[in-house]
Amino acid sequence: MKMVDAKLPHARIIDGKAFAAGLQKRVAAGVAELVASGAPKPGLATVLVGADAASQVYVRSKGKLAAELGMANFDHRLPAETTEAALLALIATLNADPAINGILVQLPLPRHIDTAHVLLAIDPAKDVDGFHPINVGRLGSIGAGAPLDFPVPCTPLGVSMLLQDALGSLAGLNAVVIGRSNLVGRPVAQLLLRLDCTVTITHSRTRDLPGLCRQADIVVVAIGKQEFLRGDWIKPGAAVIDVGINRIPADGGKTRLVGDAAFAEILPVAGHLTPVPGGVGPMTVACLMFNTLQAARRKAGLAVVSA
Ligand code: GUN
Repeated sequence: MKMVDAKLPHARIIDGKAFAAGLQKRVAAGVAELVASGAPKPGLATVLVGADAASQVYVRSKGKLAAELGMANFDHRLPAETTEAALLALIATLNADPAINGILVQLPLPRHIDTAHVLLAIDPAKDVDGFHPINVGRLGSIGAGAPLDFPVPCTPLGVSMLLQDALGSLAGLNAVVIGRSNLVGRPVAQLLLRLDCTVTITHSRTRDLPGLCRQADIVVVAIGKQEFLRGDWIKPGAAVIDVGINRIPADGGKTRLVGDAAFAEILPVAGHLTPVPGGVGPMTVACLMFNTLQAARRKAGLAVVSA
């Protein structure tokens, strides 16, 4: 008789949804503790320019979760034709407002607005996305194991939390990061370097990517290409973190989300694997809440809690 699939070894699925729910609980407890100590509620300002449908969904879910965790949410919706000067003026007001600890300007912005100008205008202490050049520079020059006492981009922070939870110490592990974006690839690489991984950042011009991946104990893929990472690129037992979110057509005229990894091929080979949806995705918004609490704690003169 053939062995049933359930008996074959396969990767442990990393449950990002469950981990994010636990993180949210810890953030809610941290907010309650801060407020009980006499500090004001942590405040998160969300800014959306234009009416992009996906961005509207993201911003709404961020504001809703902030309120659920006991924070104040200041929701700013601006028309698509808003000038850069008007947006910069709003950011200056939010920077000066003591009720606001975190400012999130949803990206992408309309083309007539220079994103670099906008990110530079946000007070680095309130930059809960970790996109301000000061915070990018802090992450780029952080020492091994040094505390993250400044805001760090949310999705990369979520990736590093999931990996530490699954594997414990990452010291000495070979990590291959596929994708060199400012949003994910580069900050993920910096965070893994801080955790003493040997990190290779790869991109569209990399030679022999499958060969590099086969030497990796950790593969993080973030390029936005469905089923790019194949099963025969993976070293048996490696941890695979799929940051891709690709919307593809499904039955009945609907759509569904898939990642950048060929899930069914990798499942029997890897040691750990994140699903899409339910892997890295839920960590992004949970880490935004974590960053907002950390900003409020710093403002109250309290130590940050470790990530
Ligand atoms: N758009 C897509 N991802 C993000 C994010 O993490 N932060 C912001 N501000 N905009 C985004």
